[in-house]
Formats: sequence, structure tokens, C-alpha cells
Amino acid sequence: MINRMLQGGAVAALAAVVLLWAACEVEREIPEHDPAVVPPPGAEVVLPDTTPEGLWRYLEEIDYADSWSHWPRLPEFYPGTEPHGQLLRTYANGIAMPHIEAGLTGDLPHSSMIVKENYTEGRELDSYSVMWRIEEYNPEHRDWLFAKYGPDGVAEEFGRVESCQECHAGAETGYIHTRAPR
Ligand code: HEC
Repeated sequence: MINRMLQGGAVAALAAVVLLWAACEVEREIPEHDPAVVPPPGAEVVLPDTTPEGLWRYLEEIDYADSWSHWPRLPEFYPGTEPHGQLLRTYANGIAMPHIEAGLTGDLPHSSMIVKENYTEGRELDSYSVMWRIEEYNPEHRDWLFAKYGPDGVAEEFGRVESCQECHAGAETGYIHTRAPR
């Protein structure tokens, strides 16, 4: 009996330690949120502020091309269409990726981010197109923020950009045009 109580106590203590550890991890990890990792359920994800400079700094800091994955089953430098580059490289964060992998059946979760690099036919970098889904940011357009940066990281378009919104609203699912081939 005592033995069992002791065991029970030990299990409870262990559970408390694990919980505490998980809580600390969340607190410690999330501010520098590693978007390659799907955050634990209920964790508050701290993303950059919604300014052109804040978003650009964030993308540089996390080094998305290294820490995120390229769009599944599309080669790097795949062909694009107007108004985007002739050749594209597209990366998505860990929040978006499982849904893209699964074939996009609805909206991507909030905090999803996509960065598309636009290149000329000669593989010269022309610009970056970014989409970022933020809770309550843009209810009329499924909460998407749109941004376009020049090769130097200076924003050319940012926020609730009419032209981007209009065309992306016509995508088959959830404002996303690109599909992952099977
Ligand atoms: C006339 C239609 C059109 C407009 C305007 C447009 N896009 Fe796109 N976008 C597309 C298409 C089509 C794709 C798929 C790739 C391709 O064919 O170039 C795409 C792909 C993307 C992607 C990759 C995710 C996805 O939906 O496939 C991002 C990010 C993106 N666009 C951002 C933007 C931003 C930011 C703007 C505005 C500055 C913008 N787009 C304006 C049609 C458009």
C-alpha cells in the first residue's frame, strides 16, 4: 500500500517536473520561435511585429531557406507565371508545411508563413513574395498579410495589398495557388 502510494507520488512528481519543464521550454523557446518546428498545442507563438522591417529582420534571423522546407515535390527553380518570377523557389514554415504536404484542403493555420523567391530566366534574384496568416489581421481576406521585397530587402508592397489579395482570393483553396504534386 505504502509502496503504491510512494509510486503514485513519484509519478505525480515526475509529471509535475515534465509539465514544468514543458512550460519553461515553451517560454524559453517560443520568443525565438523556431518555425521549422510545429509549436506545441496551446503555446503562444510569438512572430515578428507586422512592420515591413520587422518581418524582413525575422526572415533574415531565422534563415528560412535553411530552417524551413522547400515546397514539397517541386524542384528548386520551378517555372512561375506573371506577376511572379520566371523561376521560383518557395519555402514554407513548419506550421504550414504539414497542411501543404497533405494537399491543402482548407485555410492554412494562423502563423503560417510562405516565402517565394522570384528569379529571372537567368536565375538572377528579382524579388521576394511573402504571405503570412495572422489571427484577426485581415478578416476580409482570410487573415493574410502580403509583402513584396526587393532583392535588397526593402519592401515594395506590404500589408493588405489589394492586387495580391484579389488574385489570391481566386486560388482554388485558402488563397494558395501552388499545389504539391503527387
Ligand atoms: C494575377 C494573379 C496574382 C497576383 C496579382 C499575385 N499573385 Fe502571388 N501567386 C499567383 C500564382 C498563379 C502563384 C503560383 C506561382 C506562379 O504561378 O507564379 C502565386 C504564388 C504566390 C506565393 C506562393 C504561395 C501560393 O499562393 O502559391 C506567394 C507567397 C505569393 N504568390 C505572394 C504574392 C504577393 C505578396 C503578391 C502581391 C505583391 C502576389 N502574390 C500577387 C498569382 C498572383
